[in-house]
Amino acid sequence: MASQQKQANMLWGGRFTGGLDPLMVAYNESIYFDQVLHKQDILGSIAFARANFNAGILTKDEFDKIETGLQAVEAEWVAGTFKIVPGVDEDIHTANERRLGELIGKDVAGKLHTGRSRNEQVATDMRMWLRDELRAIEAHLVSFLKVTAQRAATEVDLLMPGYTHLQRAQPIRWSHWMMSYGLAFASDLERLREVIKRVNRSPLGCGALAGNPFGIDRAAMAQELGFDSLLWNSMGGVADRDFVAETLQWGAMLMQHISRWAEDLIVYSTAEFGFVRLADAYSTGSSLMPQKKNPDSLELLRGKSGRAFGHMAGFMMTLKGLPSTYNKDLQESVEPMLDHIKTVADSIQIAEGVLATLATQPLKMRAALDPFMLATDLADYLVRKGVPFRETHHISGECVALSEKTGTPMNELTFEQLQSVDARFDKDISEVFNYDKSVEMRSAKGGTSKASVLEQIAVLQAMLE
Ligand code: ARG
Repeated sequence: MASQQKQANMLWGGRFTGGLDPLMVAYNESIYFDQVLHKQDILGSIAFARANFNAGILTKDEFDKIETGLQAVEAEWVAGTFKIVPGVDEDIHTANERRLGELIGKDVAGKLHTGRSRNEQVATDMRMWLRDELRAIEAHLVSFLKVTAQRAATEVDLLMPGYTHLQRAQPIRWSHWMMSYGLAFASDLERLREVIKRVNRSPLGCGALAGNPFGIDRAAMAQELGFDSLLWNSMGGVADRDFVAETLQWGAMLMQHISRWAEDLIVYSTAEFGFVRLADAYSTGSSLMPQKKNPDSLELLRGKSGRAFGHMAGFMMTLKGLPSTYNKDLQESVEPMLDHIKTVADSIQIAEGVLATLATQPLKMRAALDPFMLATDLADYLVRKGVPFRETHHISGECVALSEKTGTPMNELTFEQLQSVDARFDKDISEVFNYDKSVEMRSAKGGTSKASVLEQIAVLQAMLE
């Protein structure tokens, strides 16, 4: 009996007579997560009521009552006094309308939903919410990139080993390393700005799927709600969760960059490398080993990238194979979206904090440079004397072998030893063994010379204005 009574209260209760399995009630309801959309739901409802008033569906008096009532409902959400009725308030749309009816009477409140479907409502709410969140994320990303650019400018004179296969390869500027990720994140920023355009399109007025029969002014509603444009097909408008999928794809890529960035810094912060020291604010100790200072912030950034990818992969599977327009499967877009946005927004801010506060260890960076990292420079020296590179590569390799065989660092081989390998080495060969010179030689655009790195910083800064 009790469950039948509840049933009658539900929005679509009219044609259902039997009670729902209690687990089915819980399985179906989304109110416990979609309540975060309360503000968007209220604003969307006010815009919809206004458009119905302008279309002659509501009187001025009815519209005023609905608007004032909806504002009162929103005030309850903000104050934390809104009482969800378990088993009745299936989702945020149902809950707000139920409460509106209690505040202004069902006769007027019952007119709000004229021509409207929750299918268009949920898509509208999600798009408005996501648009605002992505704009906030854009600001976080810009801020992180400003720290990157600033730090790269300040520390442009620090040299360290550059790696391939995690083996010492060639000397680079520390700032060149920072900017290598900075420019990847800059591409993420470009992509984000693209995604926001497609998120910020209005489905309101699409109805359940076929459109609105009361001549509602969709453009006016879209404008009131801050949308840039409309979704132009009502069936597509209620079916579309590509705006969520695209956001998750975007975030998965960004987190993949953050993860690799974090991995480098984890390696660089070990005693074996010692290039950087994390601030206490972003490290934790061990409960057992008193000496430990662990890079938990960076490990979490790396770890959470898996979770971000999971949101994306899982939701793509949810979408795959859905028939046309709205299906309840689409409700599964909300939770991954919420968790993804929190994960990405927090991660960017943590990454910024880590980078802004870490201390570099310039002497350790220098000490890790090894004369073998100049073997290419040695080959290039002979190239400049007209020797074909394939030959110089071989000659330089022989010098490496001689150095290894005699246990002499390559820069300490005598002039005679070098000449025994190839007579074309002149006295000025000693100038090759200079790390600063080596990085300055790489002066073509995009290289690790000071001017090239400063130019990269300028390119990045131009994107941040
Ligand atoms: N809570 C639902 C969702 O998030 C709202 C739309 C319900 N529409 C429906 N036809 N049952 O998708």
